[in-house]
Amino acid sequence: MTFTRRKVLSGLAGLAALGVAGGGARYWLGRPADPVTHDYELIAAPADIELIAGTKTPAWCYGGQAPGVELRARQGEWLRVRFTNHLPEPTTIHWHGIRLPLNMDGVPYVSQLPVLPGESFDYLFQVPDAGSFWYHPHTSSAEQLGRGLVGPLIVEEREPSGFRHERTLSLKNWHVDKQGHFTDFSVPREAARGGTPGVLSTINGEHAPTLELPAGQVVRLRIINLTNTVTYRVNLPGGNARIYAIDGNPIAPRPLGKTYWLGPGMRIDLALKVPPAGEQLSLRNGPLRLATLSSIATTEDEGNWPAPLPANPIAEPDLQRAETLRFNFEWAGTLSSDAGQGDAFTFWQINGQAWDINDKTCADRPIATLKKNGHYIFELRNLSQYQHPIHLHGMTFKVISSNRKRIDPWYTDTYLLGKNETARIALVADNPGVWMFHCHVIDHMETGLMAAIEVV
Ligand code: C2O
Ligand code: CU
Ligand code: CU
Repeated sequence: MTFTRRKVLSGLAGLAALGVAGGGARYWLGRPADPVTHDYELIAAPADIELIAGTKTPAWCYGGQAPGVELRARQGEWLRVRFTNHLPEPTTIHWHGIRLPLNMDGVPYVSQLPVLPGESFDYLFQVPDAGSFWYHPHTSSAEQLGRGLVGPLIVEEREPSGFRHERTLSLKNWHVDKQGHFTDFSVPREAARGGTPGVLSTINGEHAPTLELPAGQVVRLRIINLTNTVTYRVNLPGGNARIYAIDGNPIAPRPLGKTYWLGPGMRIDLALKVPPAGEQLSLRNGPLRLATLSSIATTEDEGNWPAPLPANPIAEPDLQRAETLRFNFEWAGTLSSDAGQGDAFTFWQINGQAWDINDKTCADRPIATLKKNGHYIFELRNLSQYQHPIHLHGMTFKVISSNRKRIDPWYTDTYLLGKNETARIALVADNPGVWMFHCHVIDHMETGLMAAIEVV
């Protein structure tokens, strides 16, 4: 294992000699001690936001807003974020979908120690892939993400993509009551089922907003589901829209179709041909309106469909020589009788093992060990009646087959595994480290549905 908890801790012992570096930043795990500049100063702090008119919701914000500020980088370049924690509790930032070194992955006790209140941490990494990604903590996730610590991370293509217009649509479902007060982020009886849903849907922090789009233009809509538990059934009746990328990875553009199931953590990039001025479209979740897209006159020439986006540099798994590993996702089904204050409930397991979010040593017992640069097929079997958006850190995988639907293979970091579905994904294990492999329904992940996969 590249980074064990012990090594993290001995890294911390080294810190005693180093002390707290200038500017309050602290470094370990061999980070260079002199990153003098950074692209973003990102602060996590409590702040009241107005989700419901006339009420205050005590959110936790990145950069003073929830969802957090949009971070942007250019493909192949470095993203350097000086992060400061002004929350009343420890946190970290995980960069969902970004292929980066383990020590930047934001998993507590695996990548780094939690960033304590008042401390800073410099996240510095290159972004190899262009696309729509996002960031969030990997500590006390139900509450921290639930309170608003989620934000879009956009990696622009190396060369201009051909889209002249784009909008980011961050979907979030909030656990609030009518007064704007937070309700429970995770209720055991819901965690044991589909996950605890919120009740108020927003786009970029606003309920059912009207978004103005330039008439006749093709606009890239980056739709990001950064909600804890809800799968959106995205549809756009009457809209002329094509999917250009899924979860940050380009596909051969195809029509949006009737409905796209966007699970927690997942993204789609749509190209929308905006209708003539004065017309409106309704972006919906099933029958519910998420936003009104309103077409506004423009003097620009009519837009055309851009060329497909260039592929990201992801290693192609060789299915002929790949080794197959099987992963069963099951309901574990017991409310442990000795579950007292602070104990975690266990409802879910992967291959008979449940992750305990309170046990800092779980990652020392990886569920699978992959050989560096080995080729693998993962067979994912869902033995439950609920769907699970299965997410892997550190590496991007290719979806190759399912017993439930026809698969046109694509690359992703998250696969929405349907009820009782068996799907096969493949990857080249080209990133050494210990990588979290979990369901992105946050209360499933926090009640057992997480494991570590190591690449050595
Ligand atoms: Cu969005 Cu462990 O990830
Ligand atoms: Cu992730
Ligand atoms: Cu799940």
